Amino acid sequence: MCVIITYNIIDLPCSYNKKGMKDNEQISMKITKKTRVFITGCGGMLGEAVHAVWSAVATVKCTDIDTRSPFISYGDVRDHADMKRQIDEFNPDLIIHLAAHTSLEYCEVQKDDAFKTNTESTKNLADIAKERDIPMIYISTAGIYDGKKEFYTEDDKPNPISVYGQSKYDGELYVLENLQKYYVFRAGWMMGGGAAKDKKFVAKVMKQIIEGTKELNVVDDKLGTPTYTYDFAKNMLFVVTNGSYGLYNMICDGSCSRYDVAREIVKILGRTDIKVNKVTSEYFKEEYFAPRPASEKLIPKRLKDNGLYIMRPWKECLNEYIQKQWLSYAETAGSFSFA
Ligand SMILES: NC(=O)c1ccc[n+]([C@@H]2O[C@H](COP(=O)([O-])OP(=O)(O)OC[C@H]3O[C@@H](n4cnc5c(N)ncnc54)[C@H](OP(=O)(O)O)[C@@H]3O)[C@@H](O)[C@H]2O)c1
Repeated sequence: MCVIITYNIIDLPCSYNKKGMKDNEQISMKITKKTRVFITGCGGMLGEAVHAVWSAVATVKCTDIDTRSPFISYGDVRDHADMKRQIDEFNPDLIIHLAAHTSLEYCEVQKDDAFKTNTESTKNLADIAKERDIPMIYISTAGIYDGKKEFYTEDDKPNPISVYGQSKYDGELYVLENLQKYYVFRAGWMMGGGAAKDKKFVAKVMKQIIEGTKELNVVDDKLGTPTYTYDFAKNMLFVVTNGSYGLYNMICDGSCSRYDVAREIVKILGRTDIKVNKVTSEYFKEEYFAPRPASEKLIPKRLKDNGLYIMRPWKECLNEYIQKQWLSYAETAGSFSFA
C-alpha cells in the first residue's frame, strides 16, 4: 500500500534557519513508499521504533553493527568508505543517523572509539548528505548540558561534562555548521526496545524486578525527561512531513527524577510489595562513574511553538511501553508476578 503523508509549509522564525535560507524556501518532505531512507544504528532501542514507523511509509535500508534483527544489514559507521559505498548504492532521499556508543561509562574509558563512532562518523555522513544534496537527521542528547540549570530550551548553550556528551555535541555542531538540510532532534532518557534491546534505566529496573527483588535503590538527584521511542519516531516523521529543517528538543511531555520513574514502574505493575528507596548518585559512584548532569530536563519549545509537538506525557508512554514490550517477557522470565 502506498501511504502519502500530507504536508504543510510551516514558517519558522528566521532565527531557526541556517544563514542564507529563507523561510519560504524550506518545504517539508513528501514521504511515500518511493522515498528511500538510509538508516544507521537501526539495531538499537530507537532503531526498533524507527524501523516500525518509517518502514510503514517509506522504503528503508536499516544498518547496524548489531545484526540480530532480521531487518538489519551490516554497516559500521566508522568505516567511512563503506558507508559511502552503501549509501551511493542505495541512493537515498534521506539519511537517518542513529548509530552511536550510548554507554557513558564505555565512552569515558574508550574515548577514541567514542569520538570515532559518535563524532567522526557523523561528520562523514553529513559530508555524504551534503554531497548528495539530501537531508540528514541526527539524534542529539540532553546530555550535552552541564545540568546547572533545571530546564533547557534549544536556545541554551550546551556545555558537555562527559565524553559521551562532548562526542555527541561535536557531531551536532558539525551538522549545524555544515548542512542546510538537517533535522537535529535532541532526545532525553530513552525508553524503548524491550528486553532484547533496552540498555537503559527502565530495563535496569525491570530486570531487577523480574529477578525477584523486593527493594529498589534509585537516585532522586538526577532529573530529566523520559523519551518513548515510538512517540519519538512518529514525531520525527511528523516534523519531516510538516515542519522545517532545524534543531528541536524532542521528549515526552513532563519531567521527573529517576526515582519518580521507578515508582511509576512499580505502580504500573501493581507491585505494592516492592519498596523503592531514594539514594543519591554517590551510592552508585563505582558502577556509574561517568559524570552526569544533575538536570537534563528539556523543553520542546520549538516543536510546541510551531504546532509540531505530538509526544504524549511520559507516564502514559511508560505504561504503554511496559504493557506492550515487557509484560509477556516478564511473565515467562522468572519469579515475576503482575498484580
Ligand atoms: N539511549 C538514550 O538514552 C539516548 C538519549 C539521547 C539520545 N540518544 C541518541 O539516540 C540515538 C539512538 O540511540 P539508542 O537510544 O537507540 O541507543 P542504542 O540502543 O545504543 O542504539 C545505538 C545503536 O548503534 C549501534 N552502533 C554502535 N557503534 C556502531 C557503529 N560503529 N556502526 C554502526 N552502528 C553502531 C549500537 O550497536 P551496539 O549495541 O552493538 O553498540 C546500537 O545498536 C543515538 O544517536 C544516541 O546517541 C540516545
